Amino acid sequence: MAILKVKTYPDSVLRCHAKPVEGVNREIWKLIDDMAETMYDAPGIGLAANQVGELKRVVVIDIQKEGESTGLIALVNPEIVEKKGNIAVEEGCLSVPEFFSEVKRAEEVRVRALDLDGKEIEIDAKGLLAVVLQHEIDHLDGKLFIDRLNPIKREIFKRKWKKKKKKG
Ligand code: NI
Repeated sequence: MAILKVKTYPDSVLRCHAKPVEGVNREIWKLIDDMAETMYDAPGIGLAANQVGELKRVVVIDIQKEGESTGLIALVNPEIVEKKGNIAVEEGCLSVPEFFSEVKRAEEVRVRALDLDGKEIEIDAKGLLAVVLQHEIDHLDGKLFIDRLNPIKREIFKRKWKKKKKKG
């Protein structure tokens, strides 16, 4: 296992579409291992392969809250097949350090993906897990949570980012 370098905004790899994985093999298991270690080290609650510079449709998630954890969820080729309701949660991202803002998303999602054995599975999620799934799947399509902010919040982000860049 290895801790990988997390790419940060405005790295162009974060804007690329990741390609579907053809077979869940050793190479993918190794990527998942490394991504999980990188996520736990950060620490973060989700990580998509784009964020470590790999354009493959792979995400890892482990939501930890008040000492509770969902356990490691590793998904290959995840896609949202159903969405319901609305929710707004404050989001952050390891690729957009030190910025947090509320984003509107679906409250419930059904996600279809391959598991570690390459078997098709479906997950029904709501609340925070639904939000994280949408956030990570966005990454695979080259989207960041800052793209989903309303114009005012996006302006605030731009200003903060400029300030941070000046400071170096
Ligand atoms: Ni993110």
